[in-house]
Amino acid sequence: MFYIKTWGCQMNEYDSLMISDILIKQKKYNNTQEFKKADILILNTCSIREKAQEKLFHQLGRWKKLKQQNKNLIIAVGGCVANQEGKKILKRANFVDIIFGTQTLHRLPKMISQKIKQQKSLIDISFPKLEKFNIIIPKKNVQCSQSISIMEGCNKYCSFCIVPYTRGREISRPFHDIIDEITYLSNNGTREIQLLGQNVNSYKNIDKNGKKYTFSKLLRSISLIPKIYRIRFITSNPMDFTDDIIDVYYETPKLVSFLHLPIQSGSNKILRLMKRPYSIIDYENIINKLRTARPNIQISSDFIVGFPGETEKDFLDTMHIVSKINFDMSFSFLYSPRPGTKASKLLDHTSLINKKKRLQILQEKIKQQTRKWSKKILNTNQKILVEKYFDQDKKYVLGKTEHNRTVFFEGNKNMIGKIITVQVLKQENSFFYGKYII
Ligand code: SAH
Ligand code: F3S
Repeated sequence: MFYIKTWGCQMNEYDSLMISDILIKQKKYNNTQEFKKADILILNTCSIREKAQEKLFHQLGRWKKLKQQNKNLIIAVGGCVANQEGKKILKRANFVDIIFGTQTLHRLPKMISQKIKQQKSLIDISFPKLEKFNIIIPKKNVQCSQSISIMEGCNKYCSFCIVPYTRGREISRPFHDIIDEITYLSNNGTREIQLLGQNVNSYKNIDKNGKKYTFSKLLRSISLIPKIYRIRFITSNPMDFTDDIIDVYYETPKLVSFLHLPIQSGSNKILRLMKRPYSIIDYENIINKLRTARPNIQISSDFIVGFPGETEKDFLDTMHIVSKINFDMSFSFLYSPRPGTKASKLLDHTSLINKKKRLQILQEKIKQQTRKWSKKILNTNQKILVEKYFDQDKKYVLGKTEHNRTVFFEGNKNMIGKIITVQVLKQENSFFYGKYII
């Protein structure tokens, strides 16, 4: 039996599902949620912020004790820290058996077999292009709302970011493979597809006949799959958010009126230092065009606070753009220097106390705005894509509005997988309670 612990983004969650599918299918292993029962412990790591290495060794320290009790226990470390640190992990934790990368996770079954035969630890953190997608195994538990990866990696090298080093260069999956996979999923119950990629809108692919496919073409083609009712994508960047993508918002209502578009900072000076090749005006232009196409669109974003050189004035510029765009639920982080990145060499004069204060002010503001956006749906009728039962007694079902609000209400099996109209009556924490109308 194997146990997987996952840290980090949706891409990592997706990778862990892939690892799980492969181990079940190829090795006939079972997945367990209780690490004490497992013969194989897998850690899928994240290195985007914080003291990722420390967190890793902390966790490994705990697992070491289990290994002392059971010599045959296999410990495998994968994900972004594995790519970043590689062999160095073994220096501090020589009891780790397998180190695999973000692009070599599909080789795990073979590595496990090899490890059982030999003493030595195994490492494979290479970047074989797209190989991992060639062995996608049809999922057993297809979800009503299903994520699929369409591209990986990044060539943009924003000065603060580790992703280009841990996920490798930008690489897009073949267009036809994606369409085939989504068609398969839609025939097995998927009604909402969420496209994943570190820079999802930078998707590009050329097929065998030399035909070119862009992100907008992909969106259009997905919208033609009849049983797919909604399309989401994450994470897009403002750099490649071209007009042809905005056009798709005019063409198909299947594309939801909710977009996560990371801005990072409201100061042009900081954006330049971050090596983000757009200005605040460019960002606002994209939003204005989107709002012309879709007056009801809601925008969420990512912010980094306390980037080296960020003055009080730069921070106020960020606060200004937060109100101006009226961002909905967004993520904001304290800048965290990443080993080997350009920004990690920049001088930084702002105290941690000041940075934390700024982060708190920003988060408070975003919370207020999010609350206002949420309030807007109270006592209105909303189109809900019903995903599953809410409770064990199967009395209530739950689904989401286009704007990512989860609503539950009394319902039945026939509603699952359909878009239905629900009157939203009240909010309970981050959930909404409603009543079925049509
Ligand atoms: N491709 C996306 C971002 C992917 S990384 C884009 O273009 O914006 C996800 C988020 O993590 C980023 O948007 C950023 O806000 C945050 N992040 C990345 N590196 C960071 C760092 N060194 N410190 C703090 N936050 C960081
Ligand atoms: Fe990171 Fe910038 Fe790419 S934030 S993922 S280097 S677009």
